[in-house]
Amino acid sequence: MSTHPVPDDERPARSRLHAVAMRGDDPGNDPRPDVEREFRNAMARLAAGVGVLSTLDPIGRACGLTVTAVSSVSLEPPLVLVCVKKDGFIHDALFVADGWSITFLAADQLDAAHYFARHRYPGDRDDFSPWRTSRADSGELILTGGMAAVTCVPHEMVDAGDHSVAIGRVVHIPEHMTGETPLIHGDRAYFAPGTPLA
Ligand SMILES: Cc1cc2nc3c(=O)[nH]c(=O)nc-3n(C[C@H](O)[C@H](O)[C@H](O)COP(=O)(O)O)c2cc1C
Repeated sequence: MSTHPVPDDERPARSRLHAVAMRGDDPGNDPRPDVEREFRNAMARLAAGVGVLSTLDPIGRACGLTVTAVSSVSLEPPLVLVCVKKDGFIHDALFVADGWSITFLAADQLDAAHYFARHRYPGDRDDFSPWRTSRADSGELILTGGMAAVTCVPHEMVDAGDHSVAIGRVVHIPEHMTGETPLIHGDRAYFAPGTPLA
């Protein structure tokens, strides 16, 4: 068996891919050290609706987090996912909560988007009183001025790098939500949608 290294361009395609992956695993030898920053910049350009993920912490205090990494997953059963940063203050509460909800914010709830995206220090707590709310069966608060909301029971927590993917089974769609125009975030700014294109 040859002990000579085979130049990349002479390897079968599969081995070349493996070699690139291996280099990517080694930060000291990464051919694209800026990929994290570029990935962040690319994702920032993907416009998304803005939500507030809400739950109760282990001692029953209502808390919320501004999120855009939200997607429907399945209709039967109805499943929704939200990606939550592991070092974010709401993250650990999701492992023990009986349920959680996501309010899809309306454009006139920009103040809520800012408030629930603020940095929290240990001991901080959230004050939902500036907004009209209703309480889900599991106790978390829904901002009823939003476009819509989904109320979930925990289905699965999936480990994914520096985030966890919280998958919830939707058990209720709150009625009487009063939002009229969705709040959109993209290119590091908030927008209300303009003229429909199609
Ligand atoms: C528009 C927007 C969308 C966000 N989406 C998410 C998200 O999907 N998941 C998440 O964990 N954090 C998300 N964040 C971050 C949190 O809302 C919050 O700003 C962050 O956890 C505060 O972090 P810090 O306490 O480390 O400063 C988003 C923030 C903004 C402004």
